[in-house]
Amino acid sequence: METAQRVYKGLEGVYVLESSLCLIDTEHGKLYYLGYDVEELAEKSSYEEVSYLLLHGRLPKRPELEEFVGKLRSEMRLTPEEMRDVQYAAKRTGPMDALAAFYLFASKDPSQTKDPMEHAIRAVAKAGSVLGNIVRVQRGEEPIEPQPELGIAGNLVYLVTSKKPEQYQTEFLDDILILHAEHGVPASTFGAVVTASTLSDIYSSIVTGLMTLKGPLHGGAAEAAYYQFVEIGDPNRVESWLERALAEKRRVMGFGHRVYKIYDPRARYVKAMAARAAELAGGRVKTLYEIAVRLEQAAIERLSARGLYPNVDFWTPIVYTAIGIPPGYFTAVFAVSRVVGWVAHVIEYWKDNRLIRPLHLYTGPEPGQRYVPIEERG
Ligand code: CMC
Repeated sequence: METAQRVYKGLEGVYVLESSLCLIDTEHGKLYYLGYDVEELAEKSSYEEVSYLLLHGRLPKRPELEEFVGKLRSEMRLTPEEMRDVQYAAKRTGPMDALAAFYLFASKDPSQTKDPMEHAIRAVAKAGSVLGNIVRVQRGEEPIEPQPELGIAGNLVYLVTSKKPEQYQTEFLDDILILHAEHGVPASTFGAVVTASTLSDIYSSIVTGLMTLKGPLHGGAAEAAYYQFVEIGDPNRVESWLERALAEKRRVMGFGHRVYKIYDPRARYVKAMAARAAELAGGRVKTLYEIAVRLEQAAIERLSARGLYPNVDFWTPIVYTAIGIPPGYFTAVFAVSRVVGWVAHVIEYWKDNRLIRPLHLYTGPEPGQRYVPIEERG
């Protein structure tokens, strides 16, 4: 097949696959999963139900949801061997690498011949139990048994805080998990699909997704936004900080997006959550919120003419802090949520699999270079 000899740097503007999973309406600043407005899903649904929607392509009837949640809960438990794997990985690497190591160990599972959907459900269910215990081990605490009846969000809060979660903590985290579950083909999802297209296994696709999400231009922005608020320190210092930052050509973390050139709909939703979090938690969370509100206003004044508005990562650090998640783990919480997006894409892609193998435009020396023996090269 003849292909135009042009490289689309960063694959910007290139359609790489067909997918029914999500629609990003960049004109109106809306995001839909299978046609459902993500803001309505966050308000009314649960992460478990949204996972069903993404994996099966439709909302479940009550008995279907109950069966699905039952499967998730039984897979949320960690076997003694899985607990040992988590401890081993958490003691040797960072949170994202430890999560990836867990899935690498899972890819050695001899029952790989099972239906990919079973593996997908297992992968989604384990993520929070694994991350919660990674946090514990890296803080020098003992790992503990997950509590599946708390649900995926509540269980993660419980593992991180060692306390039965308050309702607001579970609700906040559940909403955040829903909002991060799927977003088309950002670098991590594209990476996961490339791996799947070789007919490698689903866990290996998750490992690719994790290692791609880890980079600061993709999943790491919420942590950077948190440290930016900490560096500002006081709402009264926002404007002078911004002037200096822009003069030094620094980026406002949590601002701008490759796809959205208007307000990110997820950011709009999380901003309202951050306001409630500040009221509920008070103290440091309130200060972070006040800094963020003032920085948003000042930065929109300076940057909106260039299509730069807050993205979801601008507001999540405030909500994560209110929930009790330490800043070094924000990217990993995003990853826990996105596991379902990755595996849903993999299963969808496998329905009509084609090995992904793009071309490169050669820019090297003329063919036919003479091989000069090393002793004659001078
Ligand atoms: N603050 C100040 N200036 C910015 C920012 C920002 N946050 N983002 C982009 N710009 C400027 C940039 O300096 C460049 O200016 P110039 O044309 O004068 O060189 C111009 O806008 C275009 O930047 P770009 O990097 O070519 O644009 P992009 O569409 O590739 O960037 C981005 C998207 C998200 C990488 C970028 O906006 C950025 O680095 N933002 C900060 C990090 C961040 O918040 N990332 C979270 C992304 S959302 C979560 C996810 O989906 O993974």
